[in-house]
Amino acid sequence: MHIKTSVPIIAIDGPSGSGKGTVAAQVATRLGWYYLDSGSLYRLTALAASVQNIGFEEEDKVANIAKNLDVRFEGQSILLAGEEVTEKIRTEAVGEGASVVSKLPSVRQALLQRQRDFAFGLGLVADGRDMGSEVFPEAGLKVYLTASVAERANRRYKQLLSKGMNPDYNDIFDGIAKRDERDMNRSLAPLIQTHDARLLDTTNCSVEEAVQKVLDWWKEVNIRA
Ligand code: C5P
Repeated sequence: MHIKTSVPIIAIDGPSGSGKGTVAAQVATRLGWYYLDSGSLYRLTALAASVQNIGFEEEDKVANIAKNLDVRFEGQSILLAGEEVTEKIRTEAVGEGASVVSKLPSVRQALLQRQRDFAFGLGLVADGRDMGSEVFPEAGLKVYLTASVAERANRRYKQLLSKGMNPDYNDIFDGIAKRDERDMNRSLAPLIQTHDARLLDTTNCSVEEAVQKVLDWWKEVNIRA
């Protein structure tokens, strides 16, 4: 596969809860580039399938939903068929569903061009599982951003507590471990650190430090180019 785009791209891949979304969005803001949260497309597909009572195993129907997703990204808001679903797609259940539908080849195929279409303007920071390996293999900078399962579970636990919820740490830990297992071991577009991706382990580092690291790497790549 050979994709040429004149738009500079930073691809940030990593497991659930690694903080890649937060880091990618801030890097995009600092550079004045667009930001693609590719996971949201899989989440929206799972949500739309559930709403329409379509089983995740009904591949053709789910792919059809993915292909025709009526989605709008407006600032921080995500609208599905005109309805605000920004919070709805962040639940564990929708995340689980996304992880299941993302294993379906025709769903991935349906979302491929859609993701590539985000490469316009000054540049794009894209986060997901296969940004560097499949969607934007020619990205100028590829980052594999991760953190230990315990640290990721801890962050999620604190986030839910701060929302006034009553989370169970062990359930969160098990959910993250299960999602890692599924995302890393599927046959199609598994989550991997490609040979040309730089490893950024955020277990002991702040969001600001991680953002700065990616910006420094981007500068370095450009000086060498
Ligand atoms: O990143 P996020 O947790 O929102 O992604 C939800 C799920 O969507 C992931 O667990 C993964 O299975 C799937 N996904 C994917 N490829 C991407 C982004 C997300 O398979 N590029």
